[in-house]
Formats: sequence, C-alpha cells, structure tokens
Amino acid sequence: MNKGLRHFIDTNDFTKEELIDIIELSLKIKKCIKAGYYPPLMKDKTLAMIFQQSSTRTRVSFETAMSQLGGHAQYLGPGMIQLGGHETIGDTGKVLSQLVDIIMARVIEHKTVVDLANASTVPVLNGMSDYNHPTQEIGDMCTIFENLPRGKKLEDVKVVFVGDGTQVCASLGFICTKLGMHFVHYGPEAHLLNEGHKAVMQANCEISGGTFEVTTDRNAVHGADFIYTDVWYGLYENEMPKEERVKVFGEYQVNREMMQLGNIGCKFMHCLPATRGEDVTDEVADSDASLCWDEAGNRLTAMRGLLVYFTRYQKEASEVQKAAVKEELDAFMAERDLL
Ligand code: CP
Repeated sequence: MNKGLRHFIDTNDFTKEELIDIIELSLKIKKCIKAGYYPPLMKDKTLAMIFQQSSTRTRVSFETAMSQLGGHAQYLGPGMIQLGGHETIGDTGKVLSQLVDIIMARVIEHKTVVDLANASTVPVLNGMSDYNHPTQEIGDMCTIFENLPRGKKLEDVKVVFVGDGTQVCASLGFICTKLGMHFVHYGPEAHLLNEGHKAVMQANCEISGGTFEVTTDRNAVHGADFIYTDVWYGLYENEMPKEERVKVFGEYQVNREMMQLGNIGCKFMHCLPATRGEDVTDEVADSDASLCWDEAGNRLTAMRGLLVYFTRYQKEASEVQKAAVKEELDAFMAERDLL
C-alpha cells in the first residue's frame, strides 16, 4: 500500500472542506467548458475503466471527461480482463498501475475496489459497489449547489430519499450529513438504511451540525427541498420480481402526491436508470421540478473534477499543483467575467 496516495473509495474518507473543493473544482471546469475552453488537465494521461457490471452514465461520463480534458480512457468491461479469476485483484492493481495513470472500477462487491486500491500505486476511484456510489454523490451535490432553494444555504437544505435503501441512498446520506445538511430516508422497514449506515451519519453530524432520520413515517417528507429516489430492490443479480416489488415499495412511488409533501419549489432527483411507473411516475420525471437530466449531465461534471483532483492534488506537490490548476482556470474565467 502506498501510504501517501489518496483514492476515492468513500466520501467519508474526506473532510467537508475537501469535498467542497472537489465540487467547486468540478463546477469551475464545467463553466470553462461551457464557455468554450477545454482545459488539457489530463493531457497524456490514461484512465483504466474496470466494469464488472453494465453502466450507461458512469461509463460514458468517465470516457467523455477523459477525452474533453486531453486524456484517454480504456474500457475494461465484464469478462474482458483477468480480474480476480486467474489473476488476483491485487495483482491486477499492481499491473494496471504500471500501465495507466488512474483507475476507476465499478464492482459487484465493495471489497474488490478496496483490495484494488490497497494494491495500486495510482489513484483508484470507486465507480459504484454494493456499499456505495461516491462519484454519483459528487455529481448530485453539483446539481444541488446549482439549484439551492432561494435564500437558503447548504446547511438549511433538507433532502429526502424515498424508497429502497440502496447504495445510492447510503451515499446520499453520507455526503449530506458530512456537508451539514438535513437528510431523511423514508422507506419500508425491511429496506431502510441499517445501524452501520446510521453510525456513520451520526459521526458526520457530530462534526458538521447536520441531522438525519431513518423512518417509515411519511410525515418526514414534509419540508423537503429535494425528493430523491432510486430503483426498487437492485438492478442486478438481486432484482426482486415485479409483483413483489410493487407490493413492498408501491406506497413509496414518487408521484404528484409525494412531491406535494415537499416545500413549494421542491425538486425531484433520481440517479437513473428509473423504472418509470414504479419508483417514479412519468409526470414527475418529466416535470419542470425534475432535475434528473441535469443530474445525469453532472455525472460528467463530477468525473472531470474527480479525475483532475486525484491526478493533480496528490501528496507533497498538491499545493503547488492546486495553485497551477486554479491559475489556469481562473485566468480563462477572469477574461470572460465568469468568476
Ligand atoms: N447512476 C448510474 O450510476 O448509472 P449507470 O449505472 O448507468 O452508470
């Protein structure tokens, strides 16, 4: 294990200030690109993208981010490399570290991405495991920063996740409580976030002043600024038959009535893919209150920020490198009044 090297496995490994740095860097690069400047901050760098499962947003956003920033991405899809079969996960990490500058991995079991990071001598970014989905949450926070309710600061915001306590739900709870926000998970008893998740959120709140509630009480949705949901009971090998899903989660569908429980101006969020007609109605997904398409776009925003942060902000050179990145982006933005 390379002790000085930082990976992005869990947002809980980072301080509030560090996470805000990543989010602000992501939004700054977005502004530059929107104004026509593609900063070549990943020039000559290669990203290995390991996928043990299928993906639309994570795969496409990482690959697009690399090409926009002057680098290159290699897609290593399910069954394409010798990961954990003939070759151990640790050996794969050591080999890829000789061949590329940064690795991302979407894995079935969280332990796989942890083992990969422990063996790698280049940064490893977690592109989703069965435990969490931290890159999703950087993108979601970019979306929330861009859509703060009028007159509210981040610490006043209430985010309610409705439905199944998926890894996205857990990650959202982790980052909201880390940033001092107010987080609720409202769902069926057997599918709520567990004691382990609650202990992490409690520790975050003690530092940040945020709050959390994990509940079966629908009243907890009142006052939401953002209502968020995910698919019911897994997409992959754990998927529940449709009839059973509807029986367990039906009352947690995000529909017009659910949205009316939130504050005036409450926004809808979904990590996608959505199962329309189950976890969300067409009416809500396609409404003016829906941010889910912006959220998908901000996966790209987040990936650019994460790639730059983890290749340029490491170890002893980080302060100098941070200043160089800031200088480059600020010079462009100042010329165009974008700062
Ligand atoms: N939200 C998300 O991670 O989507 P993909 O599974 O398509 O990457």
